[in-house]
Amino acid sequence: MTDVLGYQGKDVVITGAASGMGKAAAQLLVDAGANVYALDIAEVSVEVKKVIKVDMKNQESLDEALSQLPESIYAHFNCAGVPSPPFSSDDAVLINFAGLRYLTESLIPRIVDGGAIASIASTAGMGWKHSLDLINDFLAIDNSIVSARKWLSEHVDAFPDGYSFSKSCMIVYTMSMAKQLAEKNIRINCISPSPTDSNFMTQLKGEGQVPEDAVALFLPSNGRYATGEDMGRALVMLNSQLACFVSGNNLPVDYGYCAEVVVGQRDNLLGIA
Ligand SMILES: NC(=O)c1ccc[n+]([C@@H]2O[C@H](COP(=O)([O-])OP(=O)(O)OC[C@H]3O[C@@H](n4cnc5c(N)ncnc54)[C@H](O)[C@@H]3O)[C@@H](O)[C@H]2O)c1
Repeated sequence: MTDVLGYQGKDVVITGAASGMGKAAAQLLVDAGANVYALDIAEVSVEVKKVIKVDMKNQESLDEALSQLPESIYAHFNCAGVPSPPFSSDDAVLINFAGLRYLTESLIPRIVDGGAIASIASTAGMGWKHSLDLINDFLAIDNSIVSARKWLSEHVDAFPDGYSFSKSCMIVYTMSMAKQLAEKNIRINCISPSPTDSNFMTQLKGEGQVPEDAVALFLPSNGRYATGEDMGRALVMLNSQLACFVSGNNLPVDYGYCAEVVVGQRDNLLGIA
């Protein structure tokens, strides 16, 4: 059969492959014939080419992982992430964005001509315009985790919650990197999922930390939580040859939730429009 996705025999890297969206994407990539290098802090059950234990907020751990990855990579997927609560605001920024940025920028020199990067942001980050100056200030520092920790310690209370800030950073970063990557013929995109049934959601709700009613406000009009597979498919599509001229985009994968907000059919609770 024709390799329409373009993954056959290609080396790809994915974080967060142990569960949820990353696990679903990793399985699809294996099924599409890719050599998958899976990075996670937890056990990975998908039968990938290589599993590497990593803690996204620890630069030494990321450097050790980098030493075990191939010198030439076709596609990179950033799927690891945590909710806050129960994780602290700083940990959400370090894991969801600072570590992701360090890993991504360390891998860019290895990504081949025609390659691509896809990451997971969130509907919660789509109010990024309101914090653009602060985000640009954070993006202006170097990509080390030490510098990110220092910046966070100097900006306590600068933003209401670390999770939304981390995802707003992800969206602005994706758009900001598109030009320099286009000059290397590499694409970069992210997705913004609506609420998805995964370990993340279980952790977020915890013991009533975020009540079901509060999450339900952000469900699409089909009334259902997405699955990891719903998001894994969008990620694999974005890094595939089917999206070969798509770059610098944040794709809401939310069955129309953001569209409803933008045209005034839903309350703009997240400052999206
Ligand atoms: N579930 C949702 O409703 C939702 C909505 C929008 C965005 N997101 C984002 O989607 C991404 C994937 O989440 P998911 O829903 O699949 O949840 P998940 O908990 O099933 O998957 C997250 C993965 O990240 C890994 N991980 C967590 N901390 C890590 C660390 N320090 N180092 C390395 N790996 C680590 C976990 O082990 C897990 O495999 C996250 O970035 C999350 O912020 C989730």
